[in-house]
Amino acid sequence: MNNNQIIKRSPSNIAIVKYWGKHGNQLPNNPSISFTLSNCFTETKVTYNENGTDSTNMEFYFEGKENPAFKSKIEKYLLENEQHFSFLKGLDLKIESYNSFPHSSGIASSASSMSALIMCLLAIKYQDEPIDLQEASFLSRLASGSAARSVYPLMTVWGETPSLPSSSDEFAIPIGDMLHPVFKTYHDTILIVSSKEKSVSSRAGHSLMNEHPMAEMRYATARKNTEDLLTILKQGDVEGFIRIAEAEANQLHDLMATSTPSYTLKEPNTINIINKILEFRKDTGLPVCYTLDAGPNVHLLYPDSCSEQVHDFIEKELKDYCFENKYIEDKVLR
Ligand code: PMV
Repeated sequence: MNNNQIIKRSPSNIAIVKYWGKHGNQLPNNPSISFTLSNCFTETKVTYNENGTDSTNMEFYFEGKENPAFKSKIEKYLLENEQHFSFLKGLDLKIESYNSFPHSSGIASSASSMSALIMCLLAIKYQDEPIDLQEASFLSRLASGSAARSVYPLMTVWGETPSLPSSSDEFAIPIGDMLHPVFKTYHDTILIVSSKEKSVSSRAGHSLMNEHPMAEMRYATARKNTEDLLTILKQGDVEGFIRIAEAEANQLHDLMATSTPSYTLKEPNTINIINKILEFRKDTGLPVCYTLDAGPNVHLLYPDSCSEQVHDFIEKELKDYCFENKYIEDKVLR
């Protein structure tokens, strides 16, 4: 019996224009743009053997321990999308997955974990041939929307926008080639405000957009922000970047606050950190800004040119607001 093994890493990503609201089979209600990160990633190992039957059997381990919840999520996904995975028939799969970031950091892991898994499965399909990244993005999207954006380095766009004729709701496309060099140097320092599980899942949040009174306004704003940000990214306009990044973060959390039922994921220290960042920017004139994911942690974004001053600022002014003084230094994956 042969015993084959594949190991793949896939990074997390942070959206600048946010995906919030979906329809059909994981199709986005507006386009989104994200930075692909370097240090926050999932590494997945798949060991596979022929089992002499027609069925696929699976074992799943997360950080060394069997994880039935994750296993059933993957089984459901493979069943719902079996037309894309006929190459798994007759295989026993042992899947082992690890995150580079601490489990208790409150960092969403579905983008990196689902895309890492898809990369492993496609490596079984393609064997010695290169993996088709568009297919990887398409299949990752079906598992977790934002995972579609994790298969390419630098920056990606997922969702149709008139500014990019090759853009699609079905998969993300890389836009690293059109970036002004300054955006290839961006850092994302993730200030950990809380380690608690999110009180409202992304899935529930997306579905609250269906009845949201501001839904159409939101999608129109996100479409416009996508087009504007693409121009900003080409021109190296860091001020324009700040305007859109912060407006998108604030709008995402305002949508949560104005849905029915309403909820808030920001915590007091989220606001304290944001106020400190705004004060620091005003005092120093440095192009630092923040974004938020669906959680209380603050992502501090800045170009490499000011990384020393920002590091001092984090140590002196921000660290005390972080849970156990924790923050994760990440940057754009090149
Ligand atoms: O990929 P999902 O379904 O977990 O949704 C992600 C939504 C946000 O992280 C809030 C925004 C985004 O575009 O990544």
